[in-house]
Amino acid sequence: MAFPASEKLQTRPATPEPDSGALIKVVAVFLGLAVGVLIPVLVWMGASAQNARNDARAAAQKAATLRAGHEHAAAAATAVTPSFAALAPANADALALAHKTYPAVLPAALPGPVADVHLVLKDVVIQIAPGIKYSAWAFAGGAPGPVIHVRQGQTVKITLTNGGVIPHSVDFHAARIAPNLAFRDVDPGKSITYTFKATDPGVFMYHCGTKPVLAHIANGMYGAIVVEPAAGVLPHADRQYVLVASEWYLSSPGLTAPASIDMAKAHAQTPDWVTWNGYAGQYVKHPLVAKPGETVRFWVVAAGPSFDTDFHVVGTLLDRAWVNGDMTHFQRNVQTVPVPAGGGGVFDVKIGKPGLYPFVSHSFASVDLGQVGLLKVGNVKGTMSH
Ligand code: CU
Ligand code: CU
Repeated sequence: MAFPASEKLQTRPATPEPDSGALIKVVAVFLGLAVGVLIPVLVWMGASAQNARNDARAAAQKAATLRAGHEHAAAAATAVTPSFAALAPANADALALAHKTYPAVLPAALPGPVADVHLVLKDVVIQIAPGIKYSAWAFAGGAPGPVIHVRQGQTVKITLTNGGVIPHSVDFHAARIAPNLAFRDVDPGKSITYTFKATDPGVFMYHCGTKPVLAHIANGMYGAIVVEPAAGVLPHADRQYVLVASEWYLSSPGLTAPASIDMAKAHAQTPDWVTWNGYAGQYVKHPLVAKPGETVRFWVVAAGPSFDTDFHVVGTLLDRAWVNGDMTHFQRNVQTVPVPAGGGGVFDVKIGKPGLYPFVSHSFASVDLGQVGLLKVGNVKGTMSH
């Protein structure tokens, strides 16, 4: 798989020109008119001309300062860290093969009337692509955080323990709750607990909501919670997978020392890697599987922090699409469905013919940066480069 380097950001704002010439011309006209007029007036005009020259000089200086400032800003903008997207160690294939994938299989729903979820935030070094290390903030030791599976109507009890060195928090999109209370910052070494009733079915993002949220999400603080309707409400699915899309913005290649976040890249939305479940191309070497004729359900969240995901499975259509995770009805036989950053969608495919079916964001820049996986239907060999 080739990951071409993305282009460097080029911005150069127009610089204002000093307008001292016009001011001097106006003064000259005034001086012309003053010829032959009383001396005190001439003296006054002379003083005015001097003032005007001083004003013009000051204006020119101000413009020069402004221009220098713009050039500085332009230099800062063009000094964005180069892309590291194309980098891969010589043994990338072997590393990709040895990589332990993030478990995409939807875990069993948590039992009992109260789903008890304890997230212990840790600062950890993780792998985000073959041989690429990143200093992440992780809800439970990895990014994404764990998939949480509950049933509609269940009470969800969330405890966040902050094992990091700065404040963090956790915001559940599935909750209807006062965010200033539930999603408030937790100091290092402290915990917070809150409960909410999972009234709304679907697949929802959870994430750290501590400022700057861009950095906290980009550093790995996101995950998915599936709120499944009561058994038998949705059509039967033979297999269920959870996919969380996200981007990584790297300050360094990450090959030797771990990379950390590059905020300029995050603001410019020029990621180095875009991933399914936190690791570039992991389901290419380790495809998700299905048997011919089975119904496969994808629960998809776009964590961003900034990119939408245009969900598409190459070689088939989405037989059912619960757009935006609205579980009250589904669309049939659609090709690509957008999942907004901070949103979710649920998609069924039923594939009769054995083969390798890539699942992607059809925004193909994201594919080149790693957001591609394979659904292997039946016993087929090989891989493909989509
Ligand atoms: Cu955080
Ligand atoms: Cu949010």
